[in-house]
Amino acid sequence: MTSPSADTPDTPGTDAPAQPFMRTIKSFVKRAGRMGGGQIRAMEELGPKFLLPYQPGAIDFEAAYADAARAAGQKHSERPLVLEIGFGMGEATAKIAATLPDTNFLCCEVHEPGVGALLKRIGENHITNIRICNHDAVEVIDHMLPPGSLDGVHIFFPDPWHKTKHNKRRLIQSPLVAKLAARLKPGGYLHCATDWEPYAQQILEVLTAEPLLKNRALASHPELAGYAPKPHYRPLTKFENRGIKLGHGVWDVVFERV
Ligand SMILES: C[S@@+](CC[C@H](N)C(=O)[O-])C[C@H]1O[C@@H](n2cnc3c(N)ncnc32)[C@H](O)[C@@H]1O
Repeated sequence: MTSPSADTPDTPGTDAPAQPFMRTIKSFVKRAGRMGGGQIRAMEELGPKFLLPYQPGAIDFEAAYADAARAAGQKHSERPLVLEIGFGMGEATAKIAATLPDTNFLCCEVHEPGVGALLKRIGENHITNIRICNHDAVEVIDHMLPPGSLDGVHIFFPDPWHKTKHNKRRLIQSPLVAKLAARLKPGGYLHCATDWEPYAQQILEVLTAEPLLKNRALASHPELAGYAPKPHYRPLTKFENRGIKLGHGVWDVVFERV
């Protein structure tokens, strides 16, 4: 039992794990962290509108994003849905949502101060196209997302779990990738980015081994050996800029559902 998600059922709406007493390895450790005043206010004022509670059963996306469609003068069916796993403090998430106003984003994060921080950004930037689930994304995928429901998945700078004995906690492993591939529509994409080279290599290997996915960059950028140029919508965050100045690399990996 090595994957973070291998012991949970695969069908939204099934609320009992197949083997309820098996311990799962999580891709995160809940950090203590105090919420700032602005984050608490954002949680109270914007939480009721932008937070989606974790509850087993397929999400009613049309109801959840009705305001976003109305604000853009569109039908719900015209708007792609992108899942983001682990948005941290939400800096990139808020910028991407502003860059792609016609896309709906479902953003999962377990760290509460991060949820408060993203809600604050939503308020400050008048963002309408994000909904947040303050819960383990693996359980959200297992219990709330039907097959073929996603147009894209973003996983940016997932915890690298550097030490070999912790590598088993890494989020991006074959069982989760298979679940994500099944939830993507044909032509939908899975975009991962990391600044830890051994994890970049693991991501490339795991995604390449998934039969439902093909590497978008192989044909367009054969010189990058499987990696992709940074897509336009992913902004450079403060963290990434600092790394680049120190000479660290960043690897983007973009695959597509066949
Ligand atoms: C290293 S941070 C990166 C944050 C952000 N994407 C960025 O680029 O700054 C990884 C984040 O993923 C979150 N995370 C890890 N596993 C998760 C899971 N299974 N579900 C939801 N969030 C998760 C952690 O709480 C953490 O905030």
